[in-house]
Amino acid sequence: MSGMSLRGRLLLWMLVPAGVMSAAMVTEAYVSARSLVGEIHDKQLVSTALGISEYVVGSTGDLLPTDILALMTSSSGERIYYRVTGPDRSFLTGHVDLPMFSGSIPEEGGVPVFFDAVYRGEKIRLVSLSMLVAERDINGWVTVQVAQTREVRDRLTREAVVRAILRLSITIGLAVFCAWIGITRGLAPLEVLGGAIKRRSYDDLRKIRHEMPAEISDVVNELNRLLERLKDSIKASQAFISNAAHQLRTPLAEIQAQSELALREVRDASDRDNLEKIVESTRKSTRLANQLLSLATVRPETRGGLTDAKQVDLNDLAARVVLDWVQRQKGKSTDIGLEKSASPALIHGDPVFLQELVNNLIDNAIEYGLEDVRITVRISVDHATAILEVEDNGPGIPLPDRAQVVDRFVRLPGSKGSGCGLGLSIVREIAEWHNAGISLHDGPQGTGLCVRIAFPDIRITGN
Ligand SMILES: Nc1ncnc2c1ncn2[C@@H]1O[C@H](COP(=O)(O)OP(=O)(O)OP(=O)(O)O)[C@@H](O)[C@H]1O
Ligand SMILES: [Mg+2]
Repeated sequence: MSGMSLRGRLLLWMLVPAGVMSAAMVTEAYVSARSLVGEIHDKQLVSTALGISEYVVGSTGDLLPTDILALMTSSSGERIYYRVTGPDRSFLTGHVDLPMFSGSIPEEGGVPVFFDAVYRGEKIRLVSLSMLVAERDINGWVTVQVAQTREVRDRLTREAVVRAILRLSITIGLAVFCAWIGITRGLAPLEVLGGAIKRRSYDDLRKIRHEMPAEISDVVNELNRLLERLKDSIKASQAFISNAAHQLRTPLAEIQAQSELALREVRDASDRDNLEKIVESTRKSTRLANQLLSLATVRPETRGGLTDAKQVDLNDLAARVVLDWVQRQKGKSTDIGLEKSASPALIHGDPVFLQELVNNLIDNAIEYGLEDVRITVRISVDHATAILEVEDNGPGIPLPDRAQVVDRFVRLPGSKGSGCGLGLSIVREIAEWHNAGISLHDGPQGTGLCVRIAFPDIRITGN
């Protein structure tokens, strides 16, 4: 029962009592129709018996003429048989083989006794009427027995029951139909609510604001309270990560500064080696702390929408980042190119995070690219979207792995370097924050990787 649908449950609660009630009503209809029809027919039977007895006694035992019999019984529509017996049960007239009433005849005359029997293969209803006659030829008890077939009375009873069943079926059918419509309409808000929850993204913890019937609104209120608590708890853990990362950065910077200082003064080769390892580990830890800080601040629970975002031209932003990388890669065989769009690629965004996005992509292209890697940062405008692409001619990422590399802490087996697998997930978070879509493609000529971020262009979308 617990897994049963609400609709099924309500209908069950309606149909079971209605079924029991219907059975009782049909039984009642049968019993009352049977007794009413029986009573009317029994009365006719008695009056026929009285008529026959009067005739028989009056004519001292003559057979009743068929036209008189027909007249007496025409109203009932049943076939009539009769038999008259004189004192000592001697046969006087009528149908000799009619079953006899075997019970005791009442002392006083004129009291009809009814009984059922089978005659000539048909069910019949009989009445036995005895009276004391003191005439010349007959002196003693004369019994008139009149039998009637049961066809009409059974048919009338059956018809009454069928009518009752029909009436009840129509009533119940109508009630179920109305209930079904009522339940469907009543449950519609629940379906709306389910759809709204289903459509929500995992990071949308806003209150549910749908108008709900009173019975459901309690559940929705509780759900909203839960969402609120969840939001607070996620906020608290994000704040903790951000604080911890923030706190870590200062001592890490100190260690790095101190070890770099020491590195300059140490002459011993093995000490230098150890110190270089310390510097490298500190650099990695600082990067991780920065990445965690980025992730914590870009999370939807902490950032609270893009309300104070600036208008950014992706061309200018990309130019700054590329210039920065070109300077950093001086003396290496890295080739970083920029392809700007013909018209400005204007978006609403946070320049610091957008720079971080491009940085992560260029960092990956260099890290996983070939010895003399060629990287292209391309900006284009296509209808309502401003597109940023970072393309390299490295080994690329196999198609089946593309969906998961954007998740946190995912690195492909055998990857170079010492990253933790956070770069692309930061890129995705920043893109999603800007309502941008991220997709991974093959690079030029089918080799390498091209990461494409499609932003809504503010001139067209107006946001
Ligand atoms: N341009 C690329 N070419 C080839 N493989 C790449 C490229 N960019 C990312 N990958 C693969 O995707 C994985 C995930 O990249 P991601 O930037 O998220 O993490 P990471 O670079 O390993 O670590 P982190 O960026 O945190 O230092 C990488 O480990 C690498 O295997
Ligand atoms: Mg990376």
